[in-house]
Amino acid sequence: MTVHQPKALTSRKTDRLHGRVTVPGDKSISHRAVMLGALAIGETTVSGLLEGEDVMATAAAMRAYGAHIIKDSMGLWHIHGVGVGGLLEPENVIDMGNSGTSTRLLMGLAASCPIVSIFTGDASLRRRPMGRVTEPLTHMGAEFSGRDGGLLPMTIQGRAPLVPITYRLPVASAQVKSAILLAGLNTPGKTTIIEPEATRDHSERMLRGFGATIDVEVNGHERIITITGESELKPQAIVVPGDPSSAAFPLVAAVLVAGSDVVIENVGVNPTRAGLIKVLQDMGAHISLTNHREVGGEPVADVLVKGGALNATETMPDIVPTMVDEFPVLFVTAALADGVSRFNGLAELRVKESDRITVMAEGLKACGVPVLEGPDWIEITGSGGAPVYGGATIASHLDHRIAMSFAVLGLVAKHPITIDDASPIATSFPSFVALMQGLGAEFTIAAR
Ligand code: S3P
Repeated sequence: MTVHQPKALTSRKTDRLHGRVTVPGDKSISHRAVMLGALAIGETTVSGLLEGEDVMATAAAMRAYGAHIIKDSMGLWHIHGVGVGGLLEPENVIDMGNSGTSTRLLMGLAASCPIVSIFTGDASLRRRPMGRVTEPLTHMGAEFSGRDGGLLPMTIQGRAPLVPITYRLPVASAQVKSAILLAGLNTPGKTTIIEPEATRDHSERMLRGFGATIDVEVNGHERIITITGESELKPQAIVVPGDPSSAAFPLVAAVLVAGSDVVIENVGVNPTRAGLIKVLQDMGAHISLTNHREVGGEPVADVLVKGGALNATETMPDIVPTMVDEFPVLFVTAALADGVSRFNGLAELRVKESDRITVMAEGLKACGVPVLEGPDWIEITGSGGAPVYGGATIASHLDHRIAMSFAVLGLVAKHPITIDDASPIATSFPSFVALMQGLGAEFTIAAR
């Protein structure tokens, strides 16, 4: 288990951000690269892998299932897999740390092999609902025994073969979709998932790249995804693009700090992830994309950002899956915009690493920002560009994106904002503090 050394991060008003940066590899794509590489027989290489704690939890889990995973002196990762359906039974409990993606996707893999796995995680992960994944996997024939309410720690008794199912997702969740796809990979016949709203499609893209048979039918908003099971995966050379969810923090910081001029290179702009840029542009932000290209089967661009004034906005439920992890930092943007912003259809934010509606609402209020919250919405009154009051200490609740969002707010606050524990940032963006300091951000770190 990762032992967190709490570190307080203080963020102070900053005059201008300036420079060119590259954010670390995409977390979602990194998890999938490690998992699929660990299933392919032969050597898969991965460059640009995110070396955050969440992806390292996936790598440790895949080693426990028998894969050989090493990083060479040039920073390239080499993975020798066990074959589809070839997971070995882990000798010990697998600790997923803070990572919901590792846990839910690996439940799908573990379910389809005749072995026992036991998963646990940190205090945040042990509060997160797993029933959304165990329910369809139980229909396929696996057995789960966890704490009341479908919480970790949990034992998974996998079965082979499972029974293929057709399943309509009750929540728009790429993790649930991917868990079923990974179970379907080792299941005879066709396993079909119907998603009412498109969610990130990295699993489909990468499974296809590794040689799995995946069909995607688009029917209005709905997508019908079918995997034909029991095919072998062929090892790949994967290049992971920069994570748009990490880029969101320097991006919003540069939008908010007047006079800023920042370029973020090599950012993934897959349409199933690119909602934030559209919303910020609608608010009047000066953001342009150049150098469009493809990296590892994913669309990528360089993002140019300049600081400037922003209008309030309203977002509707249909956009949520395309920017589900970016709402905390979008709320920070709304705190500086001109007028009242309202964000709808946010129920899923309550079951992330923390309850991101209430934790953001409380923190913004502590910094002097007027906020109203409802079961699945939030309304934020912006300052019209004037610095917010700030001056608060914010609890990060083991949530990296809460910590980074308030660090960004501190750059445009009259009085410094302190995040009580910034160590969760290492789950997704270990270089965040240094990268932001390099752009000019007034950040200081103190051991606690
Ligand atoms: C992820 C899917 C999203 C997202 C998470 C990563 C993935 O979760 O919030 O950070 O890699 O599939 P949900 O599927 O719960 O929306």
